[in-house]
Order: sequence, then C-alpha cells, then structure tokens
Amino acid sequence: MLVSATEMLQKAKAGHYAVGQFNINNLEWTKQVLLAAEETKSPVILGVSCGAAKYMTGFKTVADMVKAMIDCMGITVPVALHLDHGTYEACYDCIEAGFSSIMFDGSKYAIEENVAKTKELIDVCKKKGMSIEAEVGAIGGEEDGVIGMGECADPRECKMIADLGVDMLAAGIGNIHGKYPANWKGLSFETLDAIQQLTGEMPLVLHGGTGIPDDMIKKAINLGVAKINVNTECQLVFAEATRKYIEAGKDLEGKGFDPRKLLAPGCDAIKAKVIEKMELFGSVGKA
Ligand code: 13P
Repeated sequence: MLVSATEMLQKAKAGHYAVGQFNINNLEWTKQVLLAAEETKSPVILGVSCGAAKYMTGFKTVADMVKAMIDCMGITVPVALHLDHGTYEACYDCIEAGFSSIMFDGSKYAIEENVAKTKELIDVCKKKGMSIEAEVGAIGGEEDGVIGMGECADPRECKMIADLGVDMLAAGIGNIHGKYPANWKGLSFETLDAIQQLTGEMPLVLHGGTGIPDDMIKKAINLGVAKINVNTECQLVFAEATRKYIEAGKDLEGKGFDPRKLLAPGCDAIKAKVIEKMELFGSVGKA
C-alpha cells in the first residue's frame, strides 16, 4: 500500500527502531527494494532525488511506476514514496504527481524564508494526507551537485522547525552523503541527544546512512532516529556485482548479454543489502 510516512515513523520512534529510506534510480532498484520489504515484512520508504526523477523522465513516471508495481507485485507492507532533498518547485511537482511524502530542503534560503516556505508546504501536505520532512543544518557530502560540510544543527533551530508541524526532521550531526573520509570524526551523539530532548516525539532522520558503523547506527536509533537514508551503498554493491559478472565474461556466454541476465547479480545484491539494513534498523516484522 502507498501511504504517507507519518504513521510508520511514529510507530518506529515509539518502538525504538528505524525505517529505511532507500533511494531508487530505475525499475530494477524499485523492484528489489519492494521485494526486500515484502519478504521481511518491513515498512519502507522509497527515496527519489530530483536528479533520479529527471533520469526517470519525471516525477509522474516514478509515481505511476511505483503505484503500478505495488499493485502488480501484490505488495502488502506500507510503502511511502518520498521526495529526497526537494527544491520548492520539486515539492509541488511531487504533490501533483501523487507522491505520498516530500522533503523540503530549504537550506539554501535564509531561515525566515525557509520557515515561510516550510509552513506553506506543511499546510498543503496536511490537506493531501502527505508527510513532510524538513532539514536543519546542511548534510555534508555531495547530493545532486549540492555540497555540504557535515555541520551540526542548532538544537533550538530544530525545535523551532519541529514546532511548525513537520512529520520528520533531518538534523545534521556530522553525517555526510556518500563514502566517509578516513579522517571522519563520527556522529555527534551530544548534538543528537540535545535535539532529541528538545523535540520529544518527533521522528528524527539520519541522512548519509552509507558507511556509518553498525554500533553508531544503533546508538543513533536509541537517541531518537526513526528514519535512515541509504543510497550510495546500494549503488556500490550493484556496481560491484555487475563488474564481477562482466569480468567473468558471463555476458559473452549464451544469452548472457540479455539485460534481464546482465543486471540480475546487481539486482540480487541490492535486495540483499536492503534486507541487511532492515535487520540492522530493526524494521523487520514491523509492517
Ligand atoms: P548515502 O548515499 O550516503 O547513503 O546517503 C543517502 C541519503 O542521505 C539520501 O538523502
């Protein structure tokens, strides 16, 4: 079922586990994430960045594909289709296209304008039964050409944005997108703790899930993180499995060049990685 992320995240926060947001790039990705969720009876969030939507020809294509796949595959677990790091314009495109959840990334605006635009989008989402995520403090690394520094959010600013009525709040706690550099200092649990104390029930979101050690993930969940975004890790295992297939010359054997065969090892690798993350996040059996 396509649902907003509100209820699944409130349950996750109350039950001390996290729901994974897995970013999708194409039909193969979407299918594997949905298979993993159904097999493990996990709620799941499909993340779509503006770049990925453009690649897939638009938000409408993505929304229609996801809805059709949920139907054709007989998916029974709750699935949220969520815009990842949306611009103001992309948020409206997704509302129109039939997404069930959006993230408004207003970090490029001054705080007053960020607040005004966030409030406006909260109102629209509430009317449509959609969920909305806001971000405080830029998340480091590179995503769709936006480079952040991995800064820590100001807990009071988090409280202010949480009080506007968002359903989930992403706060920078030293996390970055993509691979972590060797000299990365780790997550700031002090910041996370301070944010959690001020924002109470609010489900907190941890971006940049790739490469964060398992013990830090568990500690973050204990401190109120209820949604964890994973993107790069699925891309890495897909690329590795595909490279192995080609390096072994399997595309040259029989009909090994058939995309359904060529992409199969990568697809299996994505599914296995998603299941591994769902087990780590504690969402297995929670659908
Ligand atoms: P990673 O690519 O580091 O897993 O980050 C994903 C993410 O946070 C998407 O918003």
